Amino acid sequence: MDFLTQSTHVHITTWVIALILFLVALRKPSTGVHMGLRLFYVFILITGFALFTTFDSLSPMWYGIKMLLGIITIGLMEMTLVRKKKGKSNGGVLAGAFIVLILTVILGFALPGII
Ligand code: HEM
Repeated sequence: MDFLTQSTHVHITTWVIALILFLVALRKPSTGVHMGLRLFYVFILITGFALFTTFDSLSPMWYGIKMLLGIITIGLMEMTLVRKKKGKSNGGVLAGAFIVLILTVILGFALPGII
């Protein structure tokens, strides 16, 4: 599975597609788009874990924080859509999702692994 760890492009592709599906589902709720998004959560996790196990010895603490932030981003995205579906307020979780997303992206690019 070298293609997962030779560059971060596959990982980046998975979360960019997830972000697009998230924004689409947010504007126009649809079970199909939401299911597609959940599939991409799995792809983000697989590609993220592959990078993590390859590079985490470079800086175990920061790689651990990167993984946590990535998982929290996914959790908040999912909570935002579920709360919207149930008709509950979702402004707080949505704001949280974007803040943690931005932190995840900044930390991701700051990590020393690979381009
Ligand atoms: C929505 C969630 C996520 C976003 C937005 C995200 C974003 C990013 C970004 C921007 C990079 C930098 C790519 C580069 O340097 O070329 C990156 C790399 C990485 N991500 Fe994620 N990620 C997410 C989820 C995850 C998860 C869940 C994990 C772990 C299970 C993870 C582990 C990693 C690792 C280990 C790297 C390599 C860092 C390096 O270049 O040394 N990510 N991610």
